[in-house]
Amino acid sequence: MKPVVPPPLQLSVAFALAATAAAVALALLLLHVAVPPVLLALLAVVTLAGFALVERVFLRDVAAIADYAHRLGEGEDATPPAICTPLRPVVSAVTRLRRSAQLQCDQTRAELDANEAILEALHDPFLLVDSHRQVEHANAAARALFGERMVTRDLAASLRNPSILEAVDAVLGGAASRSVEFSLPVPVERMFEVRVKPFRRRRPAATEGVIDAPAEERTAILTLHDITAIKRSEQMRADFIANASHELRTPLSTLLGFIETLRGPARDDDDARDRFLGIMHDQASRMTRLVSDLLSLSRIELDEHMPPGGAVDVVARLQGVLAAFELKAHERRIRLRLVAPASVPPVVGDDDQLTQVFQNLISNAIKYTREQSEVTVTVSVSDGSAVGAASTGGASMGGVRVPRIGGGPMVAVAVADHGEGIARTHLPRLTERFYRVDAARSRALGGTGLGLAIVKHILNRHRGRMTIESEVGVGSTFTVYLPAEAGAQTKAAERRGAA
Ligand SMILES: Nc1ncnc2c1ncn2[C@@H]1O[C@H](COP(=O)(O)OP(=O)(O)OP(=O)(O)O)[C@@H](O)[C@H]1O
Ligand SMILES: [Mg+2]
Repeated sequence: MKPVVPPPLQLSVAFALAATAAAVALALLLLHVAVPPVLLALLAVVTLAGFALVERVFLRDVAAIADYAHRLGEGEDATPPAICTPLRPVVSAVTRLRRSAQLQCDQTRAELDANEAILEALHDPFLLVDSHRQVEHANAAARALFGERMVTRDLAASLRNPSILEAVDAVLGGAASRSVEFSLPVPVERMFEVRVKPFRRRRPAATEGVIDAPAEERTAILTLHDITAIKRSEQMRADFIANASHELRTPLSTLLGFIETLRGPARDDDDARDRFLGIMHDQASRMTRLVSDLLSLSRIELDEHMPPGGAVDVVARLQGVLAAFELKAHERRIRLRLVAPASVPPVVGDDDQLTQVFQNLISNAIKYTREQSEVTVTVSVSDGSAVGAASTGGASMGGVRVPRIGGGPMVAVAVADHGEGIARTHLPRLTERFYRVDAARSRALGGTGLGLAIVKHILNRHRGRMTIESEVGVGSTFTVYLPAEAGAQTKAAERRGAA
């Protein structure tokens, strides 16, 4: 039960007087009491005056309530009028109505803000285009891509791709969802898949403060999905298959050619047979090497996400690898030199894989350095920050993807040769599979073009990194950085000393 608000005293007095006068007059008339007409007239005046006063006050309150409701409807923060008639509960009801509408409005606004924040935080660009193709909403990712000023302008002003504009026009014209691919050439080429979806929006049309039935507007939502990595990996896979087939086809056709020759014209030529068999052996060995390199690469890729757990004594491994290459180096009269401090901490790593890294780098250095020159392998210990500096310095990069190193000590192994060096343009691609600066020369030297790709993947697994510094005509230095085992600064040196 709602409490009944008593009317103020004046109104009650006026109402009581009018009612009493009316009642007295009525009673006198009904009882046929002889009353002087002056008294009757007086009673009538009192009754009329009392009721007129009550009516005036009621009308004034009704007008005040109407004005209050109107101002609230206009969005004003109006204060409730002072009401002295029994209409006061109406004011409280209007105030409560207004409060609940305000609450709903606040809730809707909070939800809208949350939705806006979610859209804004989306990694993928998102756009809402109205029925006139004007950009109504663009999230941060979209604005970063197409410019801050794209909102409220025609989509064509910031996105000039004809296929996308055509798809948007079609969807706004009533067509179903469309999907378009497009590329942005600058600053680095990126590929996007753009999905254009129709969005029927119910929009209330307000006229003269009256809310009409909601009208429907056809808008379009554009979401852009970056597919650069997918496209690149598709391309790489296609390139890889083409390259691997090409690499295998060449020795295979050489083998087939010699087999034909040995079966036909050279059937009885002993000298030619020996020579040809030698070449066939080389080609078959090349194929074996290629297949084993490919297998090795796929094995490394398989467990690339699992960091290695062992501890490797880098200096001992390098000594072993250099000893194994001694003969090959001697053939080209190349001197191999190892420079290492007395104390080198072991690195976290897989023994076999790190040996493979050193083998590949030292084998390259011996292959590509000038005859009678020197290949120097220098081991040093640096902290993580020094490695960061090395990577960003003006020096050339090897294209190895490297996670941020936590700043702990790193063991650096630099393999320097005095070869003809590598032009700067080749450096970012050197670690790609089958990439060679001079393919014919590499093949002639028995190379498969997979060595540095293997190095890259092993280093990725080891959370290590590589930098390449090279000067044409002077030589190249390939430096590998590997995280040292925590708290093991001198163990390796002690072990070597004890051995
Ligand atoms: N020390 C170096 N000096 C000059 N060029 C180099 C050096 N190391 C590598 N390269 C260039 O980088 C290319 C790729 O090297 P990578 O080790 O991957 O292949 P490869 O040596 O040709 O063959 P393999 O698979 O047998 O190692 C080489 O073909 C060569 O052109
Ligand atoms: Mg190599």
